[in-house]
Amino acid sequence: MTPTQVDVAVVGSVNIDLVASVARLPLPGETVSADDFAQFPGGKGSNQAVAAARLGRRVAFVGLIGDDAEAGEVRAALERGSVDVTHLQVEPGTPTGRALVVVDEAAENTIIVVGGANMRLTPAHVEAAGDVVRGARVVVAQLEVPVETVTAAARLSGGRFLLNPAPARQLPAELLDLVDVLVLNETEYEVVAGHPLPEDPAELGSRLASSGWQCLVVVTLGARGCLVWDGGEVASVPAPVVPVVDTTGAGDTFIGALADALSRDEPPLTAARWAVHAASRSVGALGATTAMPDRAAVLAAVRSAGDGGPTEPEGSLLSEEAPAEQR
Ligand code: RIB
Repeated sequence: MTPTQVDVAVVGSVNIDLVASVARLPLPGETVSADDFAQFPGGKGSNQAVAAARLGRRVAFVGLIGDDAEAGEVRAALERGSVDVTHLQVEPGTPTGRALVVVDEAAENTIIVVGGANMRLTPAHVEAAGDVVRGARVVVAQLEVPVETVTAAARLSGGRFLLNPAPARQLPAELLDLVDVLVLNETEYEVVAGHPLPEDPAELGSRLASSGWQCLVVVTLGARGCLVWDGGEVASVPAPVVPVVDTTGAGDTFIGALADALSRDEPPLTAARWAVHAASRSVGALGATTAMPDRAAVLAAVRSAGDGGPTEPEGSLLSEEAPAEQR
């Protein structure tokens, strides 16, 4: 694979996830005992890259790790996930990013991210990867790296620029203007928009119409699916009911799958349905990438839900076989 040929370039974070399983999450000031502990590769950027690659896309990752013992582990995880790591650089004397994840028996979680090397990723690193960022059909970024680095990626992007503003923060106007696809959950919507997510989709539509945002907006709702706004009415995409062990990385699977579908020029609603089913298949095991589905699993989920097949255009993701050049 030559770097300029990728479908999806991800500019973002890579972490080691330190995951404690508990009966219930501690209250402020409370200590609880964990029933189990495990370590997994994670980071929103890395997870999203692996999700898109597992669905068959050619994916390149632009990021920064430290020179500690764990750095090799996260690099190897990306490589095992078939992600091109040519532009995964090492920052000497800096720890690789870490996330402290606590998951309870109801699959609720809390996550604290310790940025480490991720926060040293600069616009110069992105410019050094300019060939992949300019050449990718979709460029994906999050906010676990500095916002000026994300803005540099948006400026350089030659394809569609997808931003997942997580962890949530207010966005500079210049960055928002460069976004083609904004994917955010309810909490992130509230921070970025400056008001709570309206319950009524029609009200959300009129809020978005007057927001000045010039992009496709997808609001993820967890087990309730997502809302999609493409300049007209807000459409609601429901999620199937599935057994849940751990939702860590479900949002990242959604974004990887959405990038996968958009890189094939799928219409927004088709892409959102695909992403909902991919995310719903990712929550059955502990760890962000452990249960991420491949293309066959998502196709099976879409078909068994019966919410996309017959109306999809020929050659779509939902058809029996993708054209050879898309595999
Ligand atoms: O979105 C889940 C991810 O958030 C975890 O893998 C953790 O590393 C944090 O970045």
